Amino acid sequence: MRDIKLSPEEERKYFADVESVRELAGAGGRRPGVYIRTFGCQQNEADSEKIAGMAESMGYCIQDRPEGASLIVVNTCAVREHAEKRALSVIGQYKHLKAADPSVIIAVCGCMVSQGKRADQLKRSYPYVDFSFGTSDLHLFPALLLDRLKGGRRVFRLPPDEPPVPEIMPTERGSSYRAWVSIMYGCNNFCSYCIVPYVRGRERSREPDAVIGEVRDLVARGYRDITLLGQNVNSYGRGCSFDCDFTELLRRADGIDGDFLLRFMTSHPKDATPELIDAIAGGRHVARQFHLPAQSGSDAVLRAMNRGYTREKYTETLRLIKEKIPGCVVSTDIIVGFPGETEANFEDTLSLLREAEFDMVFSFIYSPRAGTPAAAFGGAVDAKTAGERMQRLLELQTGISAEKNAAYTGREIRVLTCGRSRTDPSVTECRTEGGKLLHIRQTVPEGVFVKVKVTGTGAFVLEGELAETI
Ligand code: SAH
Ligand code: SF4
Ligand code: F3S
Repeated sequence: MRDIKLSPEEERKYFADVESVRELAGAGGRRPGVYIRTFGCQQNEADSEKIAGMAESMGYCIQDRPEGASLIVVNTCAVREHAEKRALSVIGQYKHLKAADPSVIIAVCGCMVSQGKRADQLKRSYPYVDFSFGTSDLHLFPALLLDRLKGGRRVFRLPPDEPPVPEIMPTERGSSYRAWVSIMYGCNNFCSYCIVPYVRGRERSREPDAVIGEVRDLVARGYRDITLLGQNVNSYGRGCSFDCDFTELLRRADGIDGDFLLRFMTSHPKDATPELIDAIAGGRHVARQFHLPAQSGSDAVLRAMNRGYTREKYTETLRLIKEKIPGCVVSTDIIVGFPGETEANFEDTLSLLREAEFDMVFSFIYSPRAGTPAAAFGGAVDAKTAGERMQRLLELQTGISAEKNAAYTGREIRVLTCGRSRTDPSVTECRTEGGKLLHIRQTVPEGVFVKVKVTGTGAFVLEGELAETI
């Protein structure tokens, strides 16, 4: 069974724990504050919104600084070494808050602490951390918190073998117009470099009615930009008791009336089907955007990565996308410096970028992850070579992205306003249907679709002005 529900008993306990925390934590009369710090991908952001929702239901109010909070939650990522180092360093910064007020509770969750060695490290070297739990145990947050508030031991929980798919946690969303909707959890692909299947467990999907109900509710509440999330959305529903694959789920969500864009990520190239491409092409709300992580342009490297497709299969899928979805914005992920990657292999990646002409490329230097097969591979690429390769890739792609963006000059397009730029408040940041960043030098309220005329472009951002008054 891949879609295990919580038992009625577990659900009752969850609600009872929420109530008990509410009584205990709010006993001083003052509403306690919670600060949540999130690292990692959109899935972690979506998880943090559930943690925020649970915290609110337990009587906490969300605050945007750790100082003065009664509860601090750090939601961690483990995808690369850098992500772990940052999380550990931030956790370290909270030591003095606990020293100043020992009643502060510090919890750590997410992918990093789903690894036994990291959970152990926290337990041993971070005595001010009260408890930790993994991504499969979000629903146990109230229970763990309650136990600690009542003076229980520090607990560092590792993921269960068969995690459930709970539907009981409330969500406190960070935005009133953009929303994440997790449709499935975990990953079964075991790409040889990747830690995610080890820390997020086996694939399991939410029931289609639950997903569609959530999307419908978001649309009714005025959400404009909704992203369906999964590590590999193409395997949605596989092995489940219901009969609905990702294409059907997307079609059902697309059938909802309203003014909104529907996105999804991530789609694994080995399972991207022509039917899915047709569903995007024929969709009313589905954004003409496809994020299709290639990782490498070399068959030898793809094989070593256990990606399950060849370059030819990948480019064939890309060809179909471009043919059936004119104007589709295509982006990819690339890993540079995978063990054994030769100069010739790397040049194959550069040639893929030239051939594919991606709008955007997210590139990463390979980071060995303990416990994954690739961490034991020979042929490590030294840091200097990997850095130089990354530089060459970025130079090439900057030119390609600039050229792709230049084609937008003079066009009128619809964008979603996303608030003022943090670095320049006179600029309103917007997202195009394809997910590109566009700046307008006017102040426009956030969360509305506006028509803009593109007046200038660069490699990373378009410039535009309002083409109609709003
Ligand atoms: N499930 C998604 C991606 C998850 S991780 C997918 O399969 O596309 C996001 C990206 O991080 C990956 O696409 C990959 O490019 C990169 N990544 C994952 N593990 C990595 C590692 N060990 N070193 C460097 N980059 C990595
Ligand atoms: Fe990692 Fe591969 Fe799963 Fe993506 S599909 S999360 S890269 S194992
Ligand atoms: Fe996401 Fe990082 Fe976990 S990328 S799935 S938060 S390891």
